[in-house]
Amino acid sequence: MASFHTLDDLGDVEGKRALVRVDLNVPMNDLEVTDDTRFRATLETVNELSGRGAIVLLLAHFGRPKGIQSPDMSLSLVTRQYGETLGRPVRFVDESAGPAVAEAIATMGPGDIAILENTRFYAGEEKNDPELARVMAENGDFYVNDAFSAAHRAHASTEGLAHLLPSYAGRAMEKELKALEAALGNPERPVAAVVGGAKVSSKLEVLRHLVTKVDHLIIGGGMANTFLAARGIDVGKSLCEHDLASTALEILEAADKANCIVHLPYDVVVAREFAPNPPTRIANVHEVEPDEMILDVGPAAVEALADAIKTCRTLVWNGPLGAFETPPFDKATVDLAQTAAALTQSGSLVSVAGGGDTVAALNHAGVADRFTFVSTAGGAFLEWMEGKELPGVKALLRA
Ligand code: 3PG
Repeated sequence: MASFHTLDDLGDVEGKRALVRVDLNVPMNDLEVTDDTRFRATLETVNELSGRGAIVLLLAHFGRPKGIQSPDMSLSLVTRQYGETLGRPVRFVDESAGPAVAEAIATMGPGDIAILENTRFYAGEEKNDPELARVMAENGDFYVNDAFSAAHRAHASTEGLAHLLPSYAGRAMEKELKALEAALGNPERPVAAVVGGAKVSSKLEVLRHLVTKVDHLIIGGGMANTFLAARGIDVGKSLCEHDLASTALEILEAADKANCIVHLPYDVVVAREFAPNPPTRIANVHEVEPDEMILDVGPAAVEALADAIKTCRTLVWNGPLGAFETPPFDKATVDLAQTAAALTQSGSLVSVAGGGDTVAALNHAGVADRFTFVSTAGGAFLEWMEGKELPGVKALLRA
């Protein structure tokens, strides 16, 4: 695995200013944070640095204000709840670079923690403006990046800063990189990947990359319909990208060449309307009626998928197998996730999941804490699954 400095490489940090990039981009409803998973992911690093006497300055973005100071995207909105998750008061500083931050630091002591204002209020952040990075760096003695989920962005606070200060991977970043290395970098074989979700078009590069990396590729969700249709199967009214038929066939061919077994459902759950608990039936994929929609993988296929992952040592999971937010189309996702969790708990499988809906799907299945590792990243996890180098990670690599 590529090598990074971690917090273990830090010397005495008592009274030193730590600029720590975290991801505080949490969902909110009526000014309340509705899921503090990303807050919790920062705690180990923040507590450790604070406990070692550093002055901890948290840099983060919130939403996409595009360089404009937007009160509804101020990190002041989350500061109280962040402090509650942390279990101690956290102060808010209404700039993230420049003299206002220096003034705030002058009133802070060893161990104190502050959240600095949304880095994306500066136009230079998303442009990775060296001048902005330089001004930010003036307020730090060292830089810690603990935001894997923002590492696919080459921004001043995720990339630029790493070149200007002694730089370290935080504890969450360290765990994430280790888990991803175990899953696709240097995995124990055989490896299976589950890729689900609505559209092939959003995951083309993921599929192209995975067929060269894994032994079993399990395709579910609306994406599977596109593959079935490409093979000449009539998918009725199902969500399907018919224009991607030739691309789907190319991917199947590439998989064949790479000895990757692609699993598509051979029985499915269909309904005439997409609504909670409508009348459904289980059909062979060759028997879907013109007015029916495929909304989940069928029970026989799920059993076959469970048998396939039982032969594997490593599993990477991204995206649900069916329309899991609407019952009963969550069943295949829940059943297969429970099998993966049980195999993980018995020690025979390393299971790593991440991206968009995936965490919600695994939480819904009640298994997120029984997987080896569940990433808090959305876009960054997908780019990693595409085999791309993430700029925020690359910048941390030791020369
Ligand atoms: C995320 O929510 O996935 C990260 O915080 C990155 O946010 P972004 O897509 O706005 O860069």
